[in-house]
Amino acid sequence: MSTQSARIAFIGAGNHSTESLYPNIAHIPEFDLVAVCDIVPKKAQYAARRYGAPEWFTDVETMLEQVKPEGVCVCGPAEMHYAVGLQALRRGIPLFVEKPPAVSLSQVEEMVNAANQHDTWGMVGFMKRFAPANVVAKEYMSQADFGRLSTITLIHGSGPYNDIKRMLLFNGIHMIDLGRYLGGDIASVFAYGLHEQPGVQAVSASLRFANGAVGQLNMNSGHSWSDCYEMTYVSGTGAGIVIDASRSTEVMSAAGRFAQGEGLQLYGWSNRYYVSGNMAGWASGGHYTRGYWGELNHFARAVMGQVQPGPTLEDAAQAIELIEAIERSIATGTEVQLG
Ligand SMILES: NC(=O)c1ccc[n+]([C@@H]2O[C@H](COP(=O)([O-])OP(=O)(O)OC[C@H]3O[C@@H](n4cnc5c(N)ncnc54)[C@H](O)[C@@H]3O)[C@@H](O)[C@H]2O)c1
Repeated sequence: MSTQSARIAFIGAGNHSTESLYPNIAHIPEFDLVAVCDIVPKKAQYAARRYGAPEWFTDVETMLEQVKPEGVCVCGPAEMHYAVGLQALRRGIPLFVEKPPAVSLSQVEEMVNAANQHDTWGMVGFMKRFAPANVVAKEYMSQADFGRLSTITLIHGSGPYNDIKRMLLFNGIHMIDLGRYLGGDIASVFAYGLHEQPGVQAVSASLRFANGAVGQLNMNSGHSWSDCYEMTYVSGTGAGIVIDASRSTEVMSAAGRFAQGEGLQLYGWSNRYYVSGNMAGWASGGHYTRGYWGELNHFARAVMGQVQPGPTLEDAAQAIELIEAIERSIATGTEVQLG
């Protein structure tokens, strides 16, 4: 492996990857894009040319065999994440896979086992962990002023989904992982669900965290895709934090300046503070601010052994375990414990 950069191949050149993932690569010196693969030749060729990969392929096995990348990013349909993710892991190649890595807990566990058996690892595209607004909130939570975590409230409104499972698996999973990032493991859940009409689903889930804190996840799919809504409120015994759409963070505390994140701009008055990304966030469509740059930067550096990989496939397994528990709680009208 080069000491300067990791040789990484990218599988999938559809909407999300070309809008929000590939554009970051030029800003990550550790990420050497060595090949692109998509079953649609035009897409593979376009992404390779536009984002500077020397080779493009339409077959995953052929690419893995010929290019022998040090890491692989996968962004396609969820079923493809599972199948192609396993192909990479079984070759011992570190994996970055978009969410959800698979459609059931048992499939994600299979991926975790494959990674362990082949002495490698998988990272999942929970980009909210890299959004500076959330990073700063987490940092503040570790300070004495914040005190002990008491509640986390997670609210999200998305475009339409036809069933609760899909709403949670394809979208709610981001808020669930954000809840785990801020509050740790979740021990039990009681949930109500509403299936109002085609496209409109709603879930209200009460959470108990393993550390004793309580929380609430409120999700609905009653919006259009252009007016999604997200809000996170975290309270400690000494202060409160409001995170608006993983974009800005307001701390309600008597404490002074608190953020130390790399490249962050802080401004505020009184005892309220706001954080925004550096100019890369605005220059490239919010990729820095929303965490896309951060997750790919972290993956490349993890492939090089500079940082621990994460969030991992195990984190995704825990998120999907909660989704399946929410479904069970709605169906049975009972509280469900998580393993
Ligand atoms: N993290 C986020 O904010 C976020 C946002 C949007 C989408 N996503 C995720 O990104 C993923 C992709 O979404 P999209 O909207 O870009 O979908 P898309 O359909 O536009 O793109 C998927 C691409 O994968 C390719 N593909 C399918 N099977 C393949 C295979 N076996 N080998 C190689 N290429 C293959 C398709 O040809 C297509 O180009 C989804 O899983 C979605 O959940 C994440």
